[in-house]
Amino acid sequence: MYLEEQTNKSGVLSCIFSLNEEVGSLAKALRLFEEKGINLTHIESHVSCSKALDEVIDGLRAEITGQVHEMSRNKIKDTVPWFPSNIQDLDRFANQILSYGSELDADHPGFTDPVYRARRKEFADIAYNYRHGQSIPYVEYTEAEKATWGTVFRELKTLYPTHACHEHNRVFPLLEEYCGYREDNIPQLEDISRYLQSCTGFRLRPVAGLLSSRDFLAGLAFRVFHSTQYIRHGSNPMYTPEPDICHELLGHVPLFADPSFAQFSQEIGLASLAAPDEYIEKLATVYWFTVEFGLCKQGNDIRAYGAGLLSSFGELQYALTDKPKLLPFEPEKTILQKYPITEFQPIYFVAESFEDSKEKVRKYAATIPRPFSVRYNAYTQSIEVLDNTQQLRNLANSISEVGILCNALQKMA
Ligand SMILES: [Fe+2]
Repeated sequence: MYLEEQTNKSGVLSCIFSLNEEVGSLAKALRLFEEKGINLTHIESHVSCSKALDEVIDGLRAEITGQVHEMSRNKIKDTVPWFPSNIQDLDRFANQILSYGSELDADHPGFTDPVYRARRKEFADIAYNYRHGQSIPYVEYTEAEKATWGTVFRELKTLYPTHACHEHNRVFPLLEEYCGYREDNIPQLEDISRYLQSCTGFRLRPVAGLLSSRDFLAGLAFRVFHSTQYIRHGSNPMYTPEPDICHELLGHVPLFADPSFAQFSQEIGLASLAAPDEYIEKLATVYWFTVEFGLCKQGNDIRAYGAGLLSSFGELQYALTDKPKLLPFEPEKTILQKYPITEFQPIYFVAESFEDSKEKVRKYAATIPRPFSVRYNAYTQSIEVLDNTQQLRNLANSISEVGILCNALQKMA
């Protein structure tokens, strides 16, 4: 396994070598690159620089005890960005965050509040230390935090009957019944995660800071949603410059309990695995205009299903006026759309239905250049790379469930 960060037209060489356990042998190997003036972008890979590199490889063979295995230099298509193969691999993201959750920008409402900053560090540490399979630690929220939540909860709840999609309105009372959604209580991630698993297999994972788009989308492939646990600064309950627990719990969670939406979200995640960087950006744009800011047709109405809308009192109202421009959701066009992140969206994309959007994303995913197809195996919670006959045979066997379906249909007929 290695991470590939860069490709170019002339080729990338990947060289995997093992070292004996002698102290200092890695440094010895790295010194060979240094002596030949070859820059390593990270330890596992570097840009090819043919002749000097040949000498380094010879040097590795001569000086380091162990195996040296040179992979083909021209088979760039076979080298793909690393992606998690099983659900435990998501633990790697915990230490791969772009910025820690307690590092606030100067214009953040909590920037000059030492109590708030210390609190943010507590939440970031919980997530940083979390590993797959553990329970998400319960958090005792303060009275001030509960008051902030209460304000947001109360205000948004008045809009949902007329502005949120049916799926959101169907699930919301269930969350009140089973997960402690109340004006005076901030629900716990662990309770919600368990509930979501019983509905759609989706689960929550606390996240210590900002993840890269690639990592965040990869989580969706496993039906894992990386969620914040802290709450916005209390000075302005109706504003947050970043996702917080109000955004996750009121915006995202209800939809992840819906089977069609869950499948649609997973489809975006699966499309992202092993995709080249430029396609990750495109899929992140699809995610933005659907999971975050999507509108959908419902009968003669248009309703919101995007979490960015469902967690913003102002934008939820605005999105359903005639001020913004509405376009049909078509991935090939949506991916090209630029968007602001600090103001209301001037353009929204409208889905026919989650099923329809899922099919469209699936068709779009087929155009992403990668040397294999992938499939999620829910029994083993792992990604199967469909590039060999055994995997295809496994897939063929799983299709035998079609027989059960036919049988059931016959009996009903
Ligand atoms: Fe979000």
